[in-house]
Amino acid sequence: MPEFDLVVRNAQATTASDSFLCDIAVRGGRIVQLGLDLAPGAREIDAAGRAVTPGGVDAHCHLDQPMEGPARMADDFATGTRSAACGGTTTVIPFAAQMKGQSLRAAVEDYHRRAEGKAHVDYAFHLIVSDPTPKVLKEELPALIREGYTSFKIYMTYDDLKLDDGQILDVLDVAREHGAMAMVHAENADCIEWLTKRLEASGRTAPRYHAHARPMLVEREATHRAIALSQLVDVPILVVHVSGKEAVEQIRWARGLGLKVFAETCPQYLFLTAEDLGTDDSYGGARCVCSPPPRDRANQEVIWDGLADGLFTVFSSDHAPFNFDDPAGKKPGGEEVPFQHIPNGIPGLETRMALLWSEGVLAGRITPQKFVELTATNPAKAYGLHPRKGTIAVGADADLVIWDERETVIRNAMLHHAVDYTPYEGMRLAAWPGMTLARGEVVWDGSRFSGKAGAGRFLPCGAPSLLPKKRG
Ligand code: URP
Ligand code: ZN
Ligand code: ZN
Repeated sequence: MPEFDLVVRNAQATTASDSFLCDIAVRGGRIVQLGLDLAPGAREIDAAGRAVTPGGVDAHCHLDQPMEGPARMADDFATGTRSAACGGTTTVIPFAAQMKGQSLRAAVEDYHRRAEGKAHVDYAFHLIVSDPTPKVLKEELPALIREGYTSFKIYMTYDDLKLDDGQILDVLDVAREHGAMAMVHAENADCIEWLTKRLEASGRTAPRYHAHARPMLVEREATHRAIALSQLVDVPILVVHVSGKEAVEQIRWARGLGLKVFAETCPQYLFLTAEDLGTDDSYGGARCVCSPPPRDRANQEVIWDGLADGLFTVFSSDHAPFNFDDPAGKKPGGEEVPFQHIPNGIPGLETRMALLWSEGVLAGRITPQKFVELTATNPAKAYGLHPRKGTIAVGADADLVIWDERETVIRNAMLHHAVDYTPYEGMRLAAWPGMTLARGEVVWDGSRFSGKAGAGRFLPCGAPSLLPKKRG
Protein backbone atom coordinates (compact mmCIF):
# COMPACT_ATOMS: atom_id res chain seq x y z
CA MET A 1 0.00 0.00 0.00
CA PRO A 2 1.68 3.29 -1.03
CA GLU A 3 2.24 5.73 1.79
CA PHE A 4 0.69 8.65 -0.08
CA ASP A 5 -2.30 9.15 -2.39
CA LEU A 6 -0.17 11.32 -4.64
CA VAL A 7 3.38 12.58 -4.92
CA VAL A 8 4.23 15.52 -7.16
CA ARG A 9 7.95 15.05 -7.83
CA ASN A 10 10.66 17.54 -8.72
CA ALA A 11 8.53 20.60 -8.14
CA GLN A 12 10.08 24.06 -8.13
CA ALA A 13 7.69 24.89 -5.31
CA THR A 14 7.07 28.60 -4.90
CA THR A 15 5.49 30.24 -1.90
CA ALA A 16 5.08 33.89 -0.93
CA SER A 17 8.53 33.76 0.66
CA ASP A 18 10.62 31.04 -1.03
CA SER A 19 11.27 28.85 -4.02
CA PHE A 20 12.74 25.37 -3.50
CA LEU A 21 13.03 22.07 -5.33
CA CYS A 22 11.05 19.31 -3.59
CA ASP A 23 8.55 16.48 -3.81
CA ILE A 24 5.05 17.24 -2.51
CA ALA A 25 3.22 14.33 -0.88
CA VAL A 26 -0.56 14.37 -0.55
CA ARG A 27 -2.89 12.31 1.59
CA GLY A 28 -6.61 12.89 2.04
CA GLY A 29 -6.46 16.03 -0.08
CA ARG A 30 -3.84 17.72 2.10
CA ILE A 31 -0.10 18.21 1.80
CA VAL A 32 1.48 15.88 4.36
CA GLN A 33 5.18 16.04 3.46
CA LEU A 34 7.58 18.25 1.56
CA GLY A 35 11.03 16.85 0.97
CA LEU A 36 13.48 15.09 -1.30
CA ASP A 37 13.13 11.47 -2.41
CA LEU A 38 9.79 10.92 -0.67
CA ALA A 39 8.20 7.45 -0.56
CA PRO A 40 5.98 6.41 -3.50
CA GLY A 41 2.40 7.60 -3.95
CA ALA A 42 -0.54 5.72 -5.45
CA ARG A 43 -0.29 8.34 -8.14
CA GLU A 44 2.90 10.06 -9.24
CA ILE A 45 3.19 13.27 -11.23
CA ASP A 46 6.60 14.46 -12.41
CA ALA A 47 6.73 18.26 -12.41
CA ALA A 48 10.20 17.99 -13.98
CA GLY A 49 11.57 21.09 -12.31
CA ARG A 50 8.71 23.30 -13.43
CA ALA A 51 7.31 26.03 -11.23
CA VAL A 52 4.57 24.83 -8.88
CA THR A 53 2.54 27.51 -7.12
CA PRO A 54 -0.43 27.35 -4.75
CA GLY A 55 -3.76 27.20 -6.52
CA GLY A 56 -5.10 30.68 -6.99
CA VAL A 57 -7.58 32.23 -4.59
CA ASP A 58 -9.79 34.57 -6.62
CA ALA A 59 -11.21 36.75 -3.91
CA HIS A 60 -13.32 38.95 -6.14
CA CYS A 61 -15.57 37.30 -8.69
CA HIS A 62 -19.29 37.37 -9.38
CA LEU A 63 -21.12 34.12 -10.15
CA ASP A 64 -24.86 33.73 -10.59
CA GLN A 65 -25.37 36.89 -8.55
CA PRO A 66 -29.05 37.93 -8.45
CA MET A 67 -29.55 41.16 -10.38
CA GLU A 68 -32.14 43.92 -10.41
CA GLY A 69 -33.53 44.31 -13.96
CA PRO A 70 -33.13 42.10 -17.03
CA ALA A 71 -29.39 41.34 -16.81
CA ARG A 72 -28.32 37.80 -15.91
CA MET A 73 -24.81 36.56 -15.29
CA ALA A 74 -23.63 34.05 -17.87
CA ASP A 75 -21.66 31.98 -15.35
CA ASP A 76 -23.17 30.02 -12.52
CA PHE A 77 -21.17 28.05 -9.96
CA ALA A 78 -20.68 25.16 -12.40
CA THR A 79 -19.29 27.07 -15.37
CA GLY A 80 -17.52 29.70 -13.28
CA THR A 81 -15.62 27.22 -11.13
CA ARG A 82 -14.83 25.05 -14.19
CA SER A 83 -13.27 28.09 -15.79
CA ALA A 84 -11.44 28.92 -12.55
CA ALA A 85 -9.94 25.41 -12.35
CA CYS A 86 -8.71 25.49 -15.95
CA GLY A 87 -7.03 28.81 -15.24
CA GLY A 88 -5.24 27.62 -12.08
CA THR A 89 -7.69 28.99 -9.50
CA THR A 90 -8.80 26.52 -6.84
CA THR A 91 -10.74 28.76 -4.46
CA VAL A 92 -13.29 31.41 -5.39
CA ILE A 93 -14.99 33.97 -3.20
CA PRO A 94 -18.07 35.40 -4.94
CA PHE A 95 -20.71 37.60 -3.34
CA ALA A 96 -23.96 36.82 -1.58
CA ALA A 97 -25.68 40.09 -2.44
CA GLN A 98 -28.44 41.53 -0.30
CA MET A 99 -31.17 43.26 -2.33
CA LYS A 100 -32.66 46.36 -0.75
CA GLY A 101 -35.54 45.23 1.45
CA GLN A 102 -34.18 41.69 1.70
CA SER A 103 -32.77 40.14 4.84
CA LEU A 104 -29.05 39.40 4.66
CA ARG A 105 -29.71 35.89 5.98
CA ALA A 106 -32.16 35.24 3.12
CA ALA A 107 -29.54 36.44 0.61
CA VAL A 108 -27.00 34.00 2.03
CA GLU A 109 -29.46 31.09 2.02
CA ASP A 110 -30.43 31.84 -1.57
CA TYR A 111 -26.79 31.97 -2.58
CA HIS A 112 -26.07 28.59 -0.98
CA ARG A 113 -28.90 27.12 -3.04
CA ARG A 114 -27.30 28.54 -6.18
CA ALA A 115 -23.94 26.94 -5.34
CA GLU A 116 -25.18 23.61 -3.98
CA GLY A 117 -23.90 20.61 -5.93
CA LYS A 118 -22.42 22.73 -8.68
CA ALA A 119 -18.96 23.93 -7.65
CA HIS A 120 -15.86 22.22 -9.02
CA VAL A 121 -13.49 24.02 -6.63
CA ASP A 122 -13.86 25.21 -3.06
CA TYR A 123 -15.69 28.43 -2.38
CA ALA A 124 -16.47 30.93 0.36
CA PHE A 125 -18.86 33.89 0.30
CA HIS A 126 -18.38 37.59 0.81
CA LEU A 127 -21.55 39.47 1.69
CA ILE A 128 -22.79 42.61 -0.06
CA VAL A 129 -24.59 44.84 2.40
CA SER A 130 -27.00 47.11 0.51
CA ASP A 131 -29.64 47.65 3.19
CA PRO A 132 -28.10 48.12 6.63
CA THR A 133 -31.29 48.16 8.69
CA PRO A 134 -30.98 48.06 12.51
CA LYS A 135 -31.76 44.32 12.39
CA VAL A 136 -29.00 43.73 9.82
CA LEU A 137 -26.48 45.75 11.82
CA LYS A 138 -27.32 44.44 15.26
CA GLU A 139 -28.35 40.84 14.57
CA GLU A 140 -27.83 39.43 11.10
CA LEU A 141 -24.37 40.73 10.28
CA PRO A 142 -22.77 39.84 13.64
CA ALA A 143 -24.32 36.36 13.53
CA LEU A 144 -23.19 35.78 9.94
CA ILE A 145 -19.65 36.91 10.76
CA ARG A 146 -19.56 34.37 13.59
CA GLU A 147 -20.75 31.67 11.16
CA GLY A 148 -17.89 32.24 8.71
CA TYR A 149 -18.94 35.12 6.45
CA THR A 150 -16.17 37.38 7.64
CA SER A 151 -15.97 39.89 4.81
CA PHE A 152 -18.41 42.17 3.09
CA LYS A 153 -18.46 44.66 0.26
CA ILE A 154 -19.73 48.20 0.56
CA TYR A 155 -20.69 50.07 -2.61
CA MET A 156 -20.39 53.84 -2.93
CA THR A 157 -22.07 53.71 -6.37
CA TYR A 158 -24.83 51.82 -8.28
CA ASP A 159 -28.38 52.85 -7.29
CA ASP A 160 -29.44 49.38 -6.16
CA LEU A 161 -26.40 48.80 -3.94
CA LYS A 162 -24.90 52.09 -2.77
CA LEU A 163 -24.74 53.26 0.82
CA ASP A 164 -24.49 56.85 1.99
CA ASP A 165 -21.65 57.93 4.27
CA GLY A 166 -23.67 57.47 7.47
CA GLN A 167 -24.62 53.95 6.45
CA ILE A 168 -21.01 53.20 5.56
CA LEU A 169 -19.92 54.33 9.03
CA ASP A 170 -22.53 52.04 10.60
CA VAL A 171 -21.38 49.05 8.59
CA LEU A 172 -17.69 49.76 9.20
CA ASP A 173 -18.46 49.93 12.89
CA VAL A 174 -19.81 46.37 12.76
CA ALA A 175 -16.61 45.28 10.94
CA ARG A 176 -14.53 46.81 13.74
CA GLU A 177 -16.61 45.38 16.54
CA HIS A 178 -16.68 41.84 15.10
CA GLY A 179 -13.31 41.67 13.32
CA ALA A 180 -14.57 41.46 9.74
CA MET A 181 -12.90 42.74 6.57
CA ALA A 182 -14.73 45.54 4.76
CA MET A 183 -14.17 45.82 1.01
CA VAL A 184 -15.07 49.15 -0.59
CA HIS A 185 -16.09 49.95 -4.18
CA ALA A 186 -14.93 53.56 -4.31
CA GLU A 187 -16.58 55.76 -6.94
CA ASN A 188 -18.57 58.92 -6.27
CA ALA A 189 -22.18 58.13 -7.29
CA ASP A 190 -23.42 61.74 -7.49
CA CYS A 191 -20.54 62.84 -9.74
CA ILE A 192 -21.18 59.87 -12.03
CA GLU A 193 -24.88 60.69 -12.23
CA TRP A 194 -24.21 64.35 -12.97
CA LEU A 195 -21.68 63.54 -15.69
CA THR A 196 -23.94 60.87 -17.19
CA LYS A 197 -26.84 63.33 -17.49
CA ARG A 198 -24.62 65.84 -19.32
CA LEU A 199 -23.25 63.20 -21.66
CA GLU A 200 -26.73 61.92 -22.41
CA ALA A 201 -28.11 65.42 -23.01
CA SER A 202 -25.44 66.02 -25.63
CA GLY A 203 -26.01 62.68 -27.36
CA ARG A 204 -22.77 61.11 -26.17
CA THR A 205 -24.16 57.70 -25.30
CA ALA A 206 -21.80 55.19 -27.01
CA PRO A 207 -19.98 52.67 -24.79
CA ARG A 208 -16.78 54.71 -24.82
CA TYR A 209 -18.53 57.48 -22.85
CA HIS A 210 -18.75 55.12 -19.88
CA ALA A 211 -15.11 56.10 -19.23
CA HIS A 212 -16.00 59.81 -19.50
CA ALA A 213 -18.74 59.39 -16.90
CA ARG A 214 -16.35 57.73 -14.45
CA PRO A 215 -13.06 59.66 -14.70
CA MET A 216 -10.21 59.02 -12.29
CA LEU A 217 -11.36 61.98 -10.17
CA VAL A 218 -14.56 60.22 -9.08
CA GLU A 219 -12.53 57.21 -7.94
CA ARG A 220 -9.92 59.40 -6.25
CA GLU A 221 -12.54 61.33 -4.27
CA ALA A 222 -14.38 58.22 -3.15
CA THR A 223 -11.12 56.47 -2.24
CA HIS A 224 -10.17 59.42 -0.07
CA ARG A 225 -13.61 59.44 1.55
CA ALA A 226 -13.54 55.70 2.19
CA ILE A 227 -10.16 56.11 3.86
CA ALA A 228 -11.46 58.98 6.00
CA LEU A 229 -14.53 56.98 7.05
CA SER A 230 -12.38 53.99 8.01
CA GLN A 231 -10.05 56.28 9.96
CA LEU A 232 -13.00 57.74 11.84
CA VAL A 233 -14.20 54.27 12.82
CA ASP A 234 -10.64 52.98 13.30
CA VAL A 235 -11.04 49.86 11.19
CA PRO A 236 -9.00 48.44 8.29
CA ILE A 237 -10.56 48.52 4.81
CA LEU A 238 -9.64 46.94 1.51
CA VAL A 239 -10.26 49.17 -1.52
CA VAL A 240 -11.21 46.90 -4.42
CA HIS A 241 -10.47 47.19 -8.15
CA VAL A 242 -8.12 50.19 -7.94
CA SER A 243 -7.61 51.45 -11.49
CA GLY A 244 -4.85 54.06 -11.52
CA LYS A 245 -2.57 56.73 -10.21
CA GLU A 246 -4.86 59.08 -8.30
CA ALA A 247 -6.44 56.31 -6.23
CA VAL A 248 -3.01 54.75 -5.67
CA GLU A 249 -1.77 58.12 -4.38
CA GLN A 250 -4.60 58.24 -1.85
CA ILE A 251 -3.74 54.77 -0.59
CA ARG A 252 -0.01 55.58 -0.35
CA TRP A 253 -0.90 58.71 1.60
CA ALA A 254 -3.08 56.72 4.00
CA ARG A 255 -0.34 54.13 4.51
CA GLY A 256 2.07 56.97 5.23
CA LEU A 257 -0.22 57.99 8.09
CA GLY A 258 -0.06 54.43 9.40
CA LEU A 259 -3.65 53.62 8.44
CA LYS A 260 -4.51 50.02 7.67
CA VAL A 261 -5.72 50.48 4.12
CA PHE A 262 -5.33 47.48 1.83
CA ALA A 263 -5.83 47.52 -1.91
CA GLU A 264 -6.80 45.20 -4.72
CA THR A 265 -6.27 45.56 -8.44
CA CYS A 266 -7.29 43.44 -11.43
CA PRO A 267 -5.99 42.42 -14.87
CA GLN A 268 -8.15 44.96 -16.70
CA TYR A 269 -6.10 47.81 -15.19
CA LEU A 270 -2.87 46.26 -16.52
CA PHE A 271 -3.95 45.12 -19.97
CA LEU A 272 -6.89 47.27 -21.11
CA THR A 273 -7.25 51.00 -21.67
CA ALA A 274 -10.23 53.29 -22.17
CA GLU A 275 -9.64 52.84 -25.92
CA ASP A 276 -10.90 49.27 -25.56
CA LEU A 277 -14.31 50.82 -24.88
CA GLY A 278 -14.11 52.22 -28.41
CA THR A 279 -12.44 55.04 -30.32
CA ASP A 280 -15.65 55.75 -32.24
CA ASP A 281 -19.34 55.29 -31.51
CA SER A 282 -19.47 51.58 -32.40
CA TYR A 283 -20.94 49.20 -29.83
CA GLY A 284 -18.17 46.57 -29.60
CA GLY A 285 -16.56 48.45 -26.71
CA ALA A 286 -19.50 47.38 -24.53
CA ARG A 287 -17.50 44.17 -24.00
CA CYS A 288 -15.01 46.14 -21.88
CA VAL A 289 -17.49 48.26 -19.92
CA CYS A 290 -16.60 47.74 -16.28
CA SER A 291 -16.27 49.99 -13.25
CA PRO A 292 -13.97 51.67 -12.59
CA PRO A 293 -13.17 51.80 -16.31
CA PRO A 294 -9.73 50.91 -17.68
CA ARG A 295 -7.55 54.05 -17.91
CA ASP A 296 -4.43 54.62 -20.07
CA ARG A 297 -0.90 53.24 -20.48
CA ALA A 298 0.61 55.60 -17.89
CA ASN A 299 -1.90 54.39 -15.32
CA GLN A 300 -1.12 50.78 -16.22
CA GLU A 301 2.51 51.46 -15.28
CA VAL A 302 1.44 52.89 -11.93
CA ILE A 303 -0.53 49.70 -11.26
CA TRP A 304 2.48 47.53 -12.21
CA ASP A 305 4.65 49.57 -9.81
CA GLY A 306 2.09 49.10 -7.04
CA LEU A 307 2.06 45.34 -7.58
CA ALA A 308 5.84 45.17 -7.39
CA ASP A 309 6.34 47.46 -4.40
CA GLY A 310 3.66 46.17 -2.03
CA LEU A 311 1.01 48.85 -2.48
CA PHE A 312 -1.38 46.14 -3.62
CA THR A 313 -2.27 43.30 -1.32
CA VAL A 314 -4.51 41.29 -3.61
CA PHE A 315 -4.82 40.64 -7.35
CA SER A 316 -8.34 39.47 -8.30
CA SER A 317 -10.25 39.03 -11.53
CA ASP A 318 -13.48 40.90 -10.68
CA HIS A 319 -15.01 38.34 -13.05
CA ALA A 320 -18.47 39.74 -13.81
CA PRO A 321 -19.73 37.57 -16.66
CA PHE A 322 -22.23 39.05 -19.11
CA ASN A 323 -22.56 37.82 -22.69
CA PHE A 324 -22.04 40.43 -25.38
CA ASP A 325 -24.65 39.25 -27.83
CA ASP A 326 -27.44 38.60 -25.41
CA PRO A 327 -30.61 40.45 -24.30
CA ALA A 328 -29.67 39.42 -20.75
CA GLY A 329 -26.12 40.70 -21.26
CA LYS A 330 -24.44 43.68 -22.86
CA LYS A 331 -27.42 44.27 -25.19
CA PRO A 332 -30.32 44.66 -22.77
CA GLY A 333 -33.54 43.53 -24.45
CA GLY A 334 -31.50 42.80 -27.59
CA GLU A 335 -30.76 46.50 -28.16
CA GLU A 336 -27.63 48.60 -28.34
CA VAL A 337 -28.32 50.86 -25.38
CA PRO A 338 -26.80 54.07 -23.96
CA PHE A 339 -23.65 53.28 -21.94
CA GLN A 340 -25.30 53.75 -18.55
CA HIS A 341 -27.62 50.80 -19.25
CA ILE A 342 -24.86 48.34 -20.21
CA PRO A 343 -24.31 45.81 -17.42
CA ASN A 344 -20.95 46.53 -15.82
CA GLY A 345 -18.25 43.90 -15.73
CA ILE A 346 -16.00 41.67 -17.78
CA PRO A 347 -14.98 38.00 -17.57
CA GLY A 348 -11.53 37.08 -16.27
CA LEU A 349 -11.53 34.12 -13.87
CA GLU A 350 -9.62 31.82 -16.23
CA THR A 351 -7.10 34.34 -17.52
CA ARG A 352 -6.10 36.09 -14.25
CA MET A 353 -3.30 33.73 -13.19
CA ALA A 354 -1.69 33.25 -16.62
CA LEU A 355 -1.77 36.97 -17.41
CA LEU A 356 0.15 37.78 -14.23
CA TRP A 357 2.53 34.81 -14.42
CA SER A 358 3.40 35.55 -18.05
CA GLU A 359 3.45 39.34 -18.11
CA GLY A 360 4.43 39.85 -14.48
CA VAL A 361 6.82 37.04 -13.52
CA LEU A 362 8.22 35.87 -16.86
CA ALA A 363 8.46 39.45 -18.15
CA GLY A 364 10.54 40.32 -15.07
CA ARG A 365 8.15 42.81 -13.47
CA ILE A 366 7.43 40.91 -10.27
CA THR A 367 9.08 37.97 -8.51
CA PRO A 368 7.44 34.54 -8.44
CA GLN A 369 7.04 35.00 -4.66
CA LYS A 370 5.17 38.27 -5.18
CA PHE A 371 2.93 36.48 -7.69
CA VAL A 372 2.02 33.87 -5.07
CA GLU A 373 1.46 36.52 -2.41
CA LEU A 374 -0.91 38.51 -4.64
CA THR A 375 -2.87 35.67 -6.22
CA ALA A 376 -3.12 33.18 -3.35
CA THR A 377 -1.51 33.85 0.03
CA ASN A 378 -2.75 37.37 0.70
CA PRO A 379 -6.31 36.79 -0.50
CA ALA A 380 -6.42 33.70 1.74
CA LYS A 381 -5.15 35.77 4.67
CA ALA A 382 -7.37 38.78 3.98
CA TYR A 383 -10.48 36.62 4.08
CA GLY A 384 -9.62 34.12 6.79
CA LEU A 385 -8.74 31.04 4.72
CA HIS A 386 -5.01 30.87 5.42
CA PRO A 387 -3.08 28.56 6.01
CA ARG A 388 -5.52 25.96 4.71
CA LYS A 389 -5.58 27.85 1.40
CA GLY A 390 -3.05 30.00 -0.41
CA THR A 391 0.23 28.28 0.35
CA ILE A 392 2.33 25.16 -0.14
CA ALA A 393 2.92 23.85 3.37
CA VAL A 394 2.37 20.72 5.41
CA GLY A 395 -1.27 20.74 6.48
CA ALA A 396 -2.48 22.98 3.65
CA ASP A 397 -4.97 21.71 1.09
CA ALA A 398 -3.17 20.24 -1.92
CA ASP A 399 -4.30 22.98 -4.27
CA LEU A 400 -1.50 23.35 -6.80
CA VAL A 401 -0.70 24.72 -10.23
CA ILE A 402 2.10 23.27 -12.36
CA TRP A 403 3.14 25.86 -14.91
CA ASP A 404 3.91 25.20 -18.57
CA GLU A 405 6.09 27.75 -20.27
CA ARG A 406 4.38 27.38 -23.62
CA GLU A 407 3.27 30.18 -25.88
CA THR A 408 -0.48 30.52 -25.66
CA VAL A 409 -2.67 32.82 -27.71
CA ILE A 410 -5.81 33.56 -25.73
CA ARG A 411 -8.94 32.65 -27.65
CA ASN A 412 -12.40 32.63 -26.17
CA ALA A 413 -12.95 29.26 -27.81
CA MET A 414 -10.34 27.65 -25.52
CA LEU A 415 -11.81 29.06 -22.29
CA HIS A 416 -14.29 27.23 -20.08
CA HIS A 417 -16.58 30.01 -18.92
CA ALA A 418 -20.05 30.49 -20.42
CA VAL A 419 -19.36 33.99 -21.72
CA ASP A 420 -19.31 34.63 -25.49
CA TYR A 421 -16.11 36.70 -25.46
CA THR A 422 -12.89 37.44 -23.63
CA PRO A 423 -11.48 40.98 -23.51
CA TYR A 424 -8.02 39.42 -24.06
CA GLU A 425 -8.80 37.73 -27.41
CA GLY A 426 -5.60 37.28 -29.43
CA MET A 427 -3.22 38.19 -26.62
CA ARG A 428 0.01 36.17 -26.69
CA LEU A 429 1.22 34.78 -23.35
CA ALA A 430 4.42 32.91 -22.51
CA ALA A 431 2.79 30.43 -20.10
CA TRP A 432 -0.44 28.69 -19.14
CA PRO A 433 -1.34 26.34 -16.28
CA GLY A 434 -0.18 22.89 -17.37
CA MET A 435 -2.02 21.21 -14.52
CA THR A 436 -4.34 22.24 -11.69
CA LEU A 437 -4.88 20.10 -8.61
CA ALA A 438 -7.76 20.82 -6.25
CA ARG A 439 -7.38 19.06 -2.90
CA GLY A 440 -5.07 16.58 -4.59
CA GLU A 441 -7.37 15.81 -7.54
CA VAL A 442 -6.35 16.74 -11.08
CA VAL A 443 -9.05 19.07 -12.39
CA TRP A 444 -7.12 20.38 -15.40
CA ASP A 445 -4.28 18.59 -17.20
CA GLY A 446 -3.34 21.33 -19.63
CA SER A 447 -5.84 20.34 -22.27
CA ARG A 448 -8.81 18.71 -20.56
CA PHE A 449 -11.08 19.63 -17.66
CA SER A 450 -11.76 16.70 -15.34
CA GLY A 451 -13.47 18.25 -12.32
CA LYS A 452 -16.68 16.98 -10.77
CA ALA A 453 -19.67 19.20 -10.07
CA GLY A 454 -20.24 19.23 -6.32
CA ALA A 455 -16.61 18.36 -5.46
CA GLY A 456 -16.05 21.98 -4.43
CA ARG A 457 -16.92 22.56 -0.77
CA PHE A 458 -18.16 25.64 1.02
CA LEU A 459 -15.46 27.12 3.28
CA PRO A 460 -16.56 29.07 6.34
CA CYS A 461 -13.98 31.83 6.78
CA GLY A 462 -12.09 32.68 9.94
CA ALA A 463 -10.83 36.06 11.03
CA PRO A 464 -8.73 38.02 8.52
CA SER A 465 -5.04 37.44 9.29
CA LEU A 466 -3.19 40.10 7.31
CA LEU A 467 -2.42 42.00 10.50
CA PRO A 468 -0.73 40.82 13.68
CA LYS A 469 -3.14 39.75 16.44
CA LYS A 470 -3.45 42.08 19.41
CA ARG A 471 -2.79 40.51 22.81
CA GLY A 472 -5.72 39.92 25.18
O1 URP B 1 -17.82 46.56 -13.45
C1 URP B 1 -17.72 45.82 -12.49
N1 URP B 1 -16.67 45.89 -11.73
N2 URP B 1 -18.69 44.95 -12.24
C2 URP B 1 -18.76 44.06 -11.18
C3 URP B 1 -19.34 44.67 -9.95
C4 URP B 1 -18.32 45.43 -9.15
O2 URP B 1 -18.53 46.57 -8.87
O3 URP B 1 -17.30 44.86 -8.80
ZN1 ZN C 1 -17.10 46.88 -7.36
ZN1 ZN D 1 -16.81 43.13 -8.60
